[in-house]
Amino acid sequence: MCVCVCVCVLQVQSVLQPFCLSVHQLRTISDLLMKDLIKGLGKHSHHKAAVKMLPTFVRSMPDGTEHGDFLALDLGGTNFRVLHVRVLEEEKVVDILGSQTCSISQDIMLGTGEQLFDHIAACLADFISSQNLKGQTLPLGFTFSFSCEQKKIDESILLRWTKGFNCSGVEGRDIVQLLKEAVQRRGDFTIGFVAMVNDTVGTMMSCGYRDQSCEIGLIIGTGTNACYMEEMRNVKRVEGEDGRMCINTEWGGFGDDGTLENIITDINRTIDQTSIKPGVHIFEKMISGMYLGELVRLLLVKLTEQKLLFKGQRSTTLLTAGTFPTKFISEIEEPLSGLENAKRILSSLNVPYDSVDARIVRLVCDTVSSRTARLCAAALATIANRIRVNRGLKHLKTTVGMVRLLAPDCDITFILSQDGSGKGAAMVTAVAQRLALQSHLVLQPFCLSVHQLRTISDLLMKDLIKGLGKHSHHKAAVKMLPTFVRSTPDGTEHGDFLALDLGGTNFRVLHVRVLEEEKVVDILGSQTCSISQDIMLGTGEQLFDHIAACLADFISSQNLKEQTLPLGFTFSFPCEQKKIDESILIRWTKGFNCSGVEGRDICDFTIGSVAMVNDTVGTMMSCGYRDQSCEIGLIIGTGTNACYMEEMRNVKRVEGEDGRMCINTEWGGFGDDGTLENIITDIDRTIDQTSIKPGVHIFEKMISGMYLGELVRLLLVKLTEQKLLFKGQRSTTLLTAGTFPTKFISEIEEPLSGLENAKRILSSLNVPYDFVDARIVRLVCDTVSSRSARLCAAALATVANRIRVNRGLKHLKTTVGVDGTVYKKHPNFSDELQAMVRLLAPDCDVTFILSQDGSGKGAAMVTAVAQRLALQSHLLEDSDGDSEEED
Ligand code: BG6
Ligand code: GLC
Ligand code: GLC
Repeated sequence: MCVCVCVCVLQVQSVLQPFCLSVHQLRTISDLLMKDLIKGLGKHSHHKAAVKMLPTFVRSMPDGTEHGDFLALDLGGTNFRVLHVRVLEEEKVVDILGSQTCSISQDIMLGTGEQLFDHIAACLADFISSQNLKGQTLPLGFTFSFSCEQKKIDESILLRWTKGFNCSGVEGRDIVQLLKEAVQRRGDFTIGFVAMVNDTVGTMMSCGYRDQSCEIGLIIGTGTNACYMEEMRNVKRVEGEDGRMCINTEWGGFGDDGTLENIITDINRTIDQTSIKPGVHIFEKMISGMYLGELVRLLLVKLTEQKLLFKGQRSTTLLTAGTFPTKFISEIEEPLSGLENAKRILSSLNVPYDSVDARIVRLVCDTVSSRTARLCAAALATIANRIRVNRGLKHLKTTVGMVRLLAPDCDITFILSQDGSGKGAAMVTAVAQRLALQSHLVLQPFCLSVHQLRTISDLLMKDLIKGLGKHSHHKAAVKMLPTFVRSTPDGTEHGDFLALDLGGTNFRVLHVRVLEEEKVVDILGSQTCSISQDIMLGTGEQLFDHIAACLADFISSQNLKEQTLPLGFTFSFPCEQKKIDESILIRWTKGFNCSGVEGRDICDFTIGSVAMVNDTVGTMMSCGYRDQSCEIGLIIGTGTNACYMEEMRNVKRVEGEDGRMCINTEWGGFGDDGTLENIITDIDRTIDQTSIKPGVHIFEKMISGMYLGELVRLLLVKLTEQKLLFKGQRSTTLLTAGTFPTKFISEIEEPLSGLENAKRILSSLNVPYDFVDARIVRLVCDTVSSRSARLCAAALATVANRIRVNRGLKHLKTTVGVDGTVYKKHPNFSDELQAMVRLLAPDCDVTFILSQDGSGKGAAMVTAVAQRLALQSHLLEDSDGDSEEED
């Protein structure tokens, strides 16, 4: 069985893992690309270089004095366009006077060169007459977005077709010549001087007119490529040593000589082999719009085959190439409507999906687009570093946004090309900005891979077993405390109860009624009492006096003075129980540290017999009254913890072999013995060392609401120190502990209003932010909350797998009762948690139910169940005269 779990998890891993590139890998890629840039520039090494580094004969950037009217052709992107353009010297603007998009059929794209150029000439003729330009002979700029070897600006030999084109008889020929011939064949109009430009060059030049520091042109569209200004002395294939020339890198060809073998996946190989030009433009096939949708489709097919999606059911539509265009990825990753879009798209693909499938599909899209952005960022960083080193600068300021984080010594600005020849830069600002940052050293350690999560889950499984063992228990970090709750509610419980709930965000007193007939638990009255910091850190006596005072208040306000109701106490701290009404506090956690209580029985501090319950147990019990398959209780709030029903035969510290008992895992203590050393970051260490109880509850400190805000705050401070945020300007408010409460994270991650909230919060923290800073802050929040959800998912998957293996089941269907402000208030936490559990425990079908007032109701349930069992055992005693005593 265990082998089976491992195999399934490994399957998921082997599917998505190869797409997650680490900073280390990106650095290696960047180093390799740097070597290839140099190889491509060299006189003798050039002919065998995969990255062609083509001279463009564009030697200087626009200086603002250019002017006049031009015709422009733009071929090689999503659309083929003809334009009439006016460059106005005084206003320094480029106006589009008219433009027309012409379609190019698949037949033409794969037909003869003559057909293609006749078609281009026909479109041009059409446009010229529609614009009344017939008598004029305008110069023409031809943005031709394929690899061309140029000898001069008006001579451009096509080296090879890429993307969707493969017209015969064009490779090796001069494009200018072919165009002129086609125009002559028609004879109904004339063109003037023709300048050939790659789309990257067009983009750089049009942006350069507005911002003269623009010296990189980047395209991420149907294809991907970049150009930049190289020193003439390094361009060995063109004579002259002075000044600079724009080089069209053709980085799409990176990897064509096998350089990228280590990062290429099976799916990439399939994409390449089924493409029009196998073996060519390998890097582009990992990145650009022409291939991304297909990459996602193939991944979805693979996950379905492995039964990790759509219950393993295939759909002929999804099995057909081209049914998942790249625009689906953008739609599915849309922050606001993404999941709805995913569902609509999955319906149109005829796959039987549920809401978790939709999440997983979104994760797949995110994985693929994230790899794209990372690869692009690595390549762009290489170029920025190249320019910086070329000029002997310690720090480069140049224009193209966010890669400042991968190339920390280069300050890059992105300008979106408007009607330039490219659309790709838009994707960089939106996606790369988010993802390039993730790659940065500061955030990277917070991004846990499926592989790491699986290791964490394995370690926790060992710790669960250690905690249960008679002799290993005392040194176990995960305490696995018996709760003496042996059965979940059976629906016959009833009566009135008082309940106390201490240890979460609020301290509450409740009056609860359990109704047998309706199977409901009613709250007849409740009161939240505040507990001051002084009391939380004072003496035990003060704390319990305060609790008793609140209880007395409540009893009199509810007119319950005359009655003696049974009392259930949800006490959310690790306690060693001997029976249901004896509960020794092992240690305080979260914000409490009252003296004289650790090591003592909590019932000593209260009056009369009290049923003691942990909040996880209360939550499980109250949900269990509604759904009897609920056998896990989970809290992700101020603290984090879970309980579950364990087989008695495994609970070595309690006598008896039969049935089950609820175990309070106290998984918050996971890692207290150093087990998590490998995933703990510097910031986690700071959080621990500055906490009330250093060294204790390490796992909880990475996950729960008490610490998440502080984790984000410390990350923001670190990013500011490294000048990656707020232009490096510190704010005393942000430097103060506790100024970034966890609820800020939920507000900033809100899909609709998140960025506005971020700005409001940053203003209140007195930091000088810009638009990009706000986005980075959101990314930091997302990184921290997503790590929390993933760690929780790994732990929950461990518990679900434990239950499944315990029962010798191939497949387990179970329910988790959940409570806690992080789970309830954060906009994506529960989705991320559920999707990851699905991936990490593929053989467990886990349903989540949200507990409403769970702990209060649960405490009443535990008390009621204890009463029922006591009653039953009395009945047995009466009839048989002997019976085992139940606790
Ligand atoms: C509450 C329960 O709803 O959730 C408490 O009543 C529990 O018993 C708490 O401790 C956990 O969440 P938080 O966010 O309040 O710590
Ligand atoms: C392909 C072409 C290249 C172009 C890029 C972006 O990689 O070979 O010339 O710049 O696509 O359109
Ligand atoms: C802490 C407590 C644990 C509780 C959890 C959630 O981890 O030690 O008992 O269940 O917080 O409130």
